[in-house]
Amino acid sequence: MSQRSCLSVILAAGEGTRMKSALPKVLHKIAGLPMVAHVVKAAEAAGAGDQALVIGHGAEEMRKAAQKFAPKAESFVQEKRLGTAHAVLAARDAISKGYDDILVMFGDTPLIDPEVLIAARQKLAKGTAVVVVGFRTSNPSGYGRLIEKGGKLIAIREEKDCTDEEKKITFCNGGLMAIAGKQALKLLDAVGHKNAKGEYYLTDIVEIAAAQGLDVVATEASFENALGINNRAELAEAEGIWQTRRRREAMLSGVTLIAPETVFFSHDTEIGADTIVEPNVWFGPGVKIAAGAKIHAFSHIEGATIASDCDVGPFARLRPGADLKQKAKVGNFCEVKQATIEEGAKVNHLTYIGDARIGAGANIGAGTITCNYDGYSKFFTDIGEGAFVGSNSSLVAPITIGKGGYIASGSVITESVPDDALAFGRARQRTLAGKGKELRERFASAAAARKKS
Ligand code: UD1
Ligand code: MG
Repeated sequence: MSQRSCLSVILAAGEGTRMKSALPKVLHKIAGLPMVAHVVKAAEAAGAGDQALVIGHGAEEMRKAAQKFAPKAESFVQEKRLGTAHAVLAARDAISKGYDDILVMFGDTPLIDPEVLIAARQKLAKGTAVVVVGFRTSNPSGYGRLIEKGGKLIAIREEKDCTDEEKKITFCNGGLMAIAGKQALKLLDAVGHKNAKGEYYLTDIVEIAAAQGLDVVATEASFENALGINNRAELAEAEGIWQTRRRREAMLSGVTLIAPETVFFSHDTEIGADTIVEPNVWFGPGVKIAAGAKIHAFSHIEGATIASDCDVGPFARLRPGADLKQKAKVGNFCEVKQATIEEGAKVNHLTYIGDARIGAGANIGAGTITCNYDGYSKFFTDIGEGAFVGSNSSLVAPITIGKGGYIASGSVITESVPDDALAFGRARQRTLAGKGKELRERFASAAAARKKS
């Protein structure tokens, strides 16, 4: 298979009006990644070395986004939306380069499984000219029906063109097609637009190929593979299916999810075996977790690297650049951004650590704040190995606290502290014997006098 060249043509010129959105439909995200990028990833996983994106609505925005998720893809603009065959032909220049296999995919059908694409390509390798991926449903309304005769696929009929008898067919076109590269342009150029919608239907190539005696087959895949997103309810449905798949994959790879339905992964979450994730945890993009970590309930984690045996949460927020080394601990109501928490360091309660390094084994007391921002620029805080920062301290960056440095609780630290030094950044306490009682009596008699008058 690998020696066969393959181009995927991804159709994404539709307006997606039912999304009711300023953003082109296929850029709406599933698991933090635009749905069209899921399609590109599946095509790549199935060995499509080149990608052609057919765009129309929001072309500029699409091009810009595609640079991120498919930098090598070539974009083709379909100026007028005249149907799916017309859309594929917008990529004529790419198709005519002469690929063995062409995969036509829809940018709004993000749950396509690469295995389904691979199976379709295997059929092409055996000499089939057109492979249509179908699915069965008890509610086929809106889909093209697969018309078979003697076990052979002879046509696809769009709902609007179906006879009442054909409408009863429950084997439907999922939208994905694999076409032998040699035949592709010839078949596509033969498509006309004599149908209820007056559009050039890609699906017509089935009838054209069958009439020429070429081998045409329909394969069956599960409904998810054909789930097209047209509105935000379907977007949420696809997200749900994606998350269910990913949770299962995580659990089967050795991750414990106590309440899997409450844990949300990103498209790129990496998570090692023997990590335990408690309920209600959110992973944004860019999270890497090694083996044996504990992620406690209600944590929100994004762009963070967590080494083995770390302990995070409950209610922790790790933002981009949070880098927890082995056995580090970030506890409840702590926020960490762009900061390294070295091995075994503890940031346990109600703390903000931003633009900082916390040395190995250091202990950061409750309510510590790195004051990293003066309203204009960000500054760095460096805390040495084994340092102790007393509760409710403000560390005004840029600042360094040396190895083994000790900060008294409630300090506002504005000057760097050398190794092993003790720093107080607060007023010294005064205790006046008997003064509490005296003060209370004074206030009581003043209040009584006010009441009388
Ligand atoms: C299509 C299939 C139908 C199948 C269904 C599965 C055709 C004629 N029909 O119907 O058999 O059951 O998908 O979901 O192919 N697009 C363009 N330019 C166009 C027209 C469409 O880029 O001119 C893109 C759309 O953005 C979309 C895809 O092609 O990504 C499919 O178009 P859509 O209008 O959704 O086709 P359906 O009517 O759903
Ligand atoms: Mg559709």
